[in-house]
Amino acid sequence: MLKIAVLVSGGGTNLQAIIDKIKSKVITDTSIEVVISNKPDAYALTRAKDNGIEGICVSPKDYATREEFNKALVDTIDSFKVDLVVLAGYLVILPELLINKYENRIINIHPSLIPSFCGMGFYGLKVHEEVLKRGCKVTGATVHFVDKGADTGPIIMQKAVYIKNGDTPEVLQKRVMEEAEWNIMPQVINLIAHNKVKVVDNIAIVEE
Ligand code: GRF
Repeated sequence: MLKIAVLVSGGGTNLQAIIDKIKSKVITDTSIEVVISNKPDAYALTRAKDNGIEGICVSPKDYATREEFNKALVDTIDSFKVDLVVLAGYLVILPELLINKYENRIINIHPSLIPSFCGMGFYGLKVHEEVLKRGCKVTGATVHFVDKGADTGPIIMQKAVYIKNGDTPEVLQKRVMEEAEWNIMPQVINLIAHNKVKVVDNIAIVEE
């Protein structure tokens, strides 16, 4: 059984996709042990509660220093003895301690085809705004392992999404979520649960 912690900051539609696909057995041998948010009012915490999953807020605002917050976050994750940490819209820079401790055991979803439109400052609607500004015809989403850089870890899965004439950032964001994010994140979790993802020389290899 793959035990996972899901870290969130916002609405949690990716979290919901994971919950739904565990329920419908598209993802098997996996359990969400805990949902952790940095914001007490994140709707993702309500989604956790509604589905009988423990939801915890660990906010930097509740600690005097960044070091204390980092330690509290790592201790909370450790206490659930999880195999995999899933970042599903988590807008906090991860403690280096966590990245080292959970090497190739933290995954993130990014709403573009990495290495385009990623790195520092590329999050939320900004990504889709820049994609449209550049006149791209194709965008998509990427699930990757997390390393010390910003969106630089081994790429596990990507899915392309076509841009249509007249798209706004909001319309494109929705299409990328529906056509790509909500599919590839659950797929990757299921592959990891069945030991089908390896990292060799910093490249993720997915068994077919
Ligand atoms: C998604 O677009 C994801 O790619 C990005 O943050 C957003 C989170 O959305 N990392 P939600 O909270 O899952 O609805």
